Amino acid sequence: MKVITAITALLFVGAATADVQSKPFNLVIQSAKKSINGQKLAACHSGAAIESLCLAGGGSNFHLNTTAGEETPIKGQGPPGTLVWRLPYTGEDNKIEYESEPMSFYSDPSTNVAMPLFEPGYDTQSVMFDKNGQMGIYSYLDDTVTPPTGDNVKILRNWYICETYYSAYTYQTLNWVLGDAKAKPQNPSCVKVVVERKFI
Ligand SMILES: *[C@@H]1O[C@H](CO)[C@@H](O)[C@H](O)[C@H]1NC(C)=O
Repeated sequence: MKVITAITALLFVGAATADVQSKPFNLVIQSAKKSINGQKLAACHSGAAIESLCLAGGGSNFHLNTTAGEETPIKGQGPPGTLVWRLPYTGEDNKIEYESEPMSFYSDPSTNVAMPLFEPGYDTQSVMFDKNGQMGIYSYLDDTVTPPTGDNVKILRNWYICETYYSAYTYQTLNWVLGDAKAKPQNPSCVKVVVERKFI
């Protein structure tokens, strides 16, 4: 009961914004590694009201929240938005209610492998879907040159499935390798993947 109250208190930190929410979709992995190719990502319990994106079970429904009228920085590609998962919880009168949780990256100073997590609150890492439905991130910063610039927008797709350790949970999770398109994960279990959106 105490735990439930704490979770409920956490949930109300997240406030609704005037977003346009997409229809639900699955996130499907494409990889040269046959055992994971075609698998769907699921929201996996990784702490109180915290979920990672993992390979387990049948896959979860996700949404993309975009701002109405938002322009896409590259013509023909999708607009940036917030990846959302709806956490079910038991509300008043035992009714199932949902908390809309944004995705943000958790990064530990010890690794260049960042974990997407759904958590209540305001922290978000914006993502996009390109014209083929593949998930990426608009990147503006280039600090591989001196002086660094933020003038040229490109799409990065640094997604990997890796065995990760987060608050005592070890799962096969989706991760982002920090850096430019040439960045390599230090975690030896990481396998390069493409993440594709499939509307339900
Ligand atoms: C996503 O958009 C819906 C509809 O506007 C809203 O109810 C929800 O709170 C939004 N979620 C996040 C995490 O911004």
